[in-house]
Amino acid sequence: MTKKADWERFFDGHAPVYMDNCFTKNTVNEVDFLIEELRLKPGATILDVGCGTGRHAIELARRGYMVTGVDLSTGMLAEAKKSANKAKVAVTWVHANSARMPIDQEYDAVICLCEGAFGLLGRGDDALEQPLAILRGVAKALKPGARCLFTVLNGYRMARRYSQADVEKNTFDPLTLSELSEVPNLRLPATMRERGFVPTEMQLLFRTAGLYVLHIWGGTAGDWKRGQINLDEYEIMVVAEKKRQTRLPARRTR
Ligand SMILES: C[S@@+](CC[C@H](N)C(=O)[O-])C[C@H]1O[C@@H](n2cnc3c(N)ncnc32)[C@H](O)[C@@H]1O
Repeated sequence: MTKKADWERFFDGHAPVYMDNCFTKNTVNEVDFLIEELRLKPGATILDVGCGTGRHAIELARRGYMVTGVDLSTGMLAEAKKSANKAKVAVTWVHANSARMPIDQEYDAVICLCEGAFGLLGRGDDALEQPLAILRGVAKALKPGARCLFTVLNGYRMARRYSQADVEKNTFDPLTLSELSEVPNLRLPATMRERGFVPTEMQLLFRTAGLYVLHIWGGTAGDWKRGQINLDEYEIMVVAEKKRQTRLPARRTR
């Protein structure tokens, strides 16, 4: 990666204060939830896509799991490395765009939390192809029968929050369920695009990538639960499983 992508520049700038966000304050409970929902056995291998400052990766490593964290932002990864050193745990950190995941190992579980890449569209990214590329990478990185857990922006909330005036002002794109925003302090062009998703589309995208959706729940960071989606909450949670390889019975020959 030579020229920095918009989201990389954004998160590089945000990295030193990322952990001040109130939604980062429930990591220990979120990791309890992950261990249960992903059915993690002691010592399991986990890939954290869009790991950010490594808050889940480090807590998982503290509990004995073997974790790899992938992120686009060197700033976020630098914070992650500092925290891992402080916690005296080993995590493998990979600097990469997860739409082109350079991972050739199969893991026992994959997590992609708090919009870790999924739905954060780069300049020129196609609103369907980018999430699909991430999901294909996730499917490739999972052992057959293993699970992944995503939290993504809730498309219903976006549709209810924005008005027709926002569509005309080009701050909400109803064709791609995307918010467009300017980040003036970083002098970025107005191309920051965040995509929301609705459950039917999630099922189709996951299925296309070879991942079978087991649950779709509400699940905003800091308040995860196994419950109904609230139309106005920030995020949706998806739990899916990689299809097991089925062997076709050998064809009988006479
Ligand atoms: C809101 S943070 C979430 C971090 C972490 N998963 C958490 O729950 O706190 C989103 C992260 O996704 C990373 N990211 C954005 N686009 C990415 C991409 N295409 N590939 C890999 N990481 C990406 C950002 O750098 C940022 O660290």
